[in-house]
Amino acid sequence: VEEFCAQARLANPSILEVRPYSPGKPLSAIRQEFGLEEIIQLSCNENAAGPSPLAMKAMDAALRDVHRYPDDEAPLKAALALKHGMPSDNFVLGHGATDILEIIVRTFVCPDDEIVVAQPAFPWFHILGQLSGARNVMVPLREHRHDLEAMAKRCGEKTKLILIANPNNPTGTFLPRAEVEAFVRALPSHVVVVLDEAYIEYASPHQAFDPKIETQASVIVVRTFSKMSGLAGLRIGYGITQRKVIDLMEKARQPFNTTAIAHAAALASLQDHDHIEKSRRLVADGKAFLYREFDRLGLDYVNTEANFIFVDFHRDAMAIFDSLMQRGILIRPVMESCARITIGSEPQNAALIRGLESVL
Ligand SMILES: Cc1ncc(COP(=O)(O)O)c(C=O)c1O
Repeated sequence: VEEFCAQARLANPSILEVRPYSPGKPLSAIRQEFGLEEIIQLSCNENAAGPSPLAMKAMDAALRDVHRYPDDEAPLKAALALKHGMPSDNFVLGHGATDILEIIVRTFVCPDDEIVVAQPAFPWFHILGQLSGARNVMVPLREHRHDLEAMAKRCGEKTKLILIANPNNPTGTFLPRAEVEAFVRALPSHVVVVLDEAYIEYASPHQAFDPKIETQASVIVVRTFSKMSGLAGLRIGYGITQRKVIDLMEKARQPFNTTAIAHAAALASLQDHDHIEKSRRLVADGKAFLYREFDRLGLDYVNTEANFIFVDFHRDAMAIFDSLMQRGILIRPVMESCARITIGSEPQNAALIRGLESVL
């Protein structure tokens, strides 16, 4: 207790409330504890198709220059500018979408501000709010979707930031473009809205918010190469917004916050249409298979527009998680009776169903 009190005096008060983001128990510990050779990780929404072969080749070539700082962001930003039809000044790069989110909070949020966020949401949203010393205003989902009407109502003088993942994590639900646009257009100029589109490629990309539209509120679209591009281990993502917002964010961006290897891989993956198509198909086929099997097992699930499915077991999800873990299958428990399950490869999905059959 004494030691904790001493630490507590030492720490920034806002950090004491934080429960660290946990991606789960380390795989090596699980392997050792249960004597497993293989682990099927369906807990982190990674791409079961692996990385793009073109990206692997580009990384290989980039290795010979790693003695240099990654001072040349230009080619990746230029490629993103081409992809999104906007000047490269409208982009900021980060080591993953999580970095972009942190830059946004550092740039805009002060301790007395409020951050409006859904519940449940991607846990990093909530943690960032706590770290900033601002107040998280939690708005429950309605029928597993963001309740934009309720979020708008909770938006007041003190609101600085609204954080929305679209598609949403953990439920996989998607807000169509018209709904998001109407919501954003009605917001005042003292609000910054973040649309975290980490999973947008699995939904309908043409239904994504258009960052070119002008609104009173500042809108920042956040994207990542961790999901559809299969580069989660490299940590590379980006933000798209108006030039004046980028200029502010650049002040809060760590120098050299992304690596040259990640730039090379991201650039190549943008060109690898075969890999994107393969990844999309894997998830579409896996989704159809899992829906069928969940129906057969009488499991309740939410229709998803992402690479994971939110399942309600109507019983202790932690117990199901534990039993599957002993069989080498990892899912992500969320709340008491629910879990988020990543859509894996064909054999992984089949193993999941066999596991669920015996556990249930
Ligand atoms: C909504 C959402 N945003 C961002 C991320 C993380 O993205 P990155 O790997 O680019 O940091 C995740 C990952 O699970 C996520 O679910």
